Amino acid sequence: MSLLNDLQWRYATKKMNGKKVPQDKLDYILEAARLAPSSSGLQPYKIIVISDEALLTKIKDLAWNQNQIIDCSHLLVFAAWDKYTEERITEVFNYTMDERDLPHSTMDDYKNNLWGMYSQLSEEWHAHHASKQSYISFSMAIAAAAEQKVDATPMEGFLPEKLDELLKLKGSGYKSTLLLPLGYRENENDWLVNMKKIRTPKEEFITEMTIDDAANLETEPMDKTISDPKK
Ligand SMILES: Cc1cc2nc3c(=O)[nH]c(=O)nc-3n(C[C@H](O)[C@H](O)[C@H](O)COP(=O)(O)O)c2cc1C
Repeated sequence: MSLLNDLQWRYATKKMNGKKVPQDKLDYILEAARLAPSSSGLQPYKIIVISDEALLTKIKDLAWNQNQIIDCSHLLVFAAWDKYTEERITEVFNYTMDERDLPHSTMDDYKNNLWGMYSQLSEEWHAHHASKQSYISFSMAIAAAAEQKVDATPMEGFLPEKLDELLKLKGSGYKSTLLLPLGYRENENDWLVNMKKIRTPKEEFITEMTIDDAANLETEPMDKTISDPKK
């Protein structure tokens, strides 16, 4: 139950007190984010860590003046690939095979299928898909922060294009997707701290289904299988 207790404890902190998060806790949160699963294991995102006050002040101006940006200890900026390319995918798969002592060719069929699919989709679709992967990592960071009793405010409220300019991401192959200020709540000045946590009631949130509830579709078995690359 400890994860559930941590998730009850956390909230989107509105007022932080400027206290520093120790390096070991920061490392723990970043490692949880790094360990997140991603589609095909591509991890098409990275995290930029900012604690420089002058830079945080500039970022606050691009984030609807939200105070957490300057009252936090560290700001995590999540940034995702602006597009998939064959080279990027090959590089990740080659690295994976090197780490596993397998020949690069092991993943060729999988890679060709994947790139065959991605190459037909727009760059907008690519960027959106990569951005969705960054949200999974973001979520892991939020949970890990709660476990470390570090407050974190998930934030989409900023101007990504402007932030990309400020952080010189333009032309780097990455686009900013999310912000996560980390720090400690200032109880006396945070209007949200004692508010009840509100979520969709369980009975609305969770639906159990059986074959009797499903549509009567004539489904064909797929002609391709995602197979063990070693076979
Ligand atoms: C993707 C995402 C973007 C969010 N953007 C902001 C934001 O810009 N500023 C803010 O104060 N809270 C932001 N929130 C916080 C949500 O409002 C908050 O998580 C939600 O109301 C649930 O409350 P809780 O996190 O306190 O449990 C965001 C949350 C998520 C997941």
